[in-house]
Amino acid sequence: MFEFDGQVVIVTGSGSPKGIGKTIAKTFAHQGAAVVIADMNEAGVEATVKEIQEEGGKALGVVVNITSEESVKAMVDKVMDNYGRIDVLVNNAGISQKVTVEDMTLADMRRIFEVNMFGLFLCTQACMKVMRAQKYGRIVNLSSVSGKRGGGVFGGAHYSASKAAVLAFSKNLSREICAEGVTINSVCPGLINTEIWKSLPADAAQKVIDGIPMGRPGETQEVANAILFLASKEASYITGEEIDINGGSHMD
Ligand SMILES: NC(=O)c1ccc[n+]([C@@H]2O[C@H](COP(=O)([O-])OP(=O)(O)OC[C@H]3O[C@@H](n4cnc5c(N)ncnc54)[C@H](O)[C@@H]3O)[C@@H](O)[C@H]2O)c1
Repeated sequence: MFEFDGQVVIVTGSGSPKGIGKTIAKTFAHQGAAVVIADMNEAGVEATVKEIQEEGGKALGVVVNITSEESVKAMVDKVMDNYGRIDVLVNNAGISQKVTVEDMTLADMRRIFEVNMFGLFLCTQACMKVMRAQKYGRIVNLSSVSGKRGGGVFGGAHYSASKAAVLAFSKNLSREICAEGVTINSVCPGLINTEIWKSLPADAAQKVIDGIPMGRPGETQEVANAILFLASKEASYITGEEIDINGGSHMD
């Protein structure tokens, strides 16, 4: 199960050295996929590609700004020139900002939506055209627990709103394309053990942990595992769905 031999998987935001995207990319590579490391961080792209190749995996690096239509088109063109197909798109690239609504500027709000929602839209639209023609595709989006209940520890209300928008967008799109072999699902991680978690002062970290029934943050691998399932051939009858990955801190 969950074999990806011969499949082509794009993971946006996978150039972050300690981020979730890199673990997602490595997980697909371990399962035999050719993985596209797509990020605006050029050094990060090169490092992740090198790491995957050194482990015997297949990886292609693409420096992309997902908020630019031209850049996203160039990414898809490069992938098609190299591989001729796109089986999976993981919309992982995202940004956050810790700011209250009172202090938030319209520019802050626009910046967050520009990446988390509009960039996701551009990547999805460009890849789904290829997937439709193939009559096969899997799209998995990184939303967040804060898109369901608000109150992200590290993000503001604009971040929560953008992640909620991702869920509604996915549900609507799933109805448009599911009859053509393309599914679109989301994952909603709670707090994950990334750099941002490590930067928290001990008392703040303890407060967060107190709200997690499992008593610990999640690991990037635990997010990647759920994504691997949703992106697999085996998940063929699941679309417009959301998987919570939060150690029991939110259930619905
Ligand atoms: N870390 C968590 O606890 C957590 C929890 C819930 C959801 N998430 C979501 O998971 C995803 C990954 O989070 P992370 O913590 O690994 O983040 P991260 O900051 O480590 O990585 C995000 C990557 O996205 C890239 N990126 C940002 N804007 C881009 C753009 N315009 N074009 C291309 N690439 C761009 C960055 O260069 C970076 O490499 C995000 O969508 C985030 O909102 C994270």
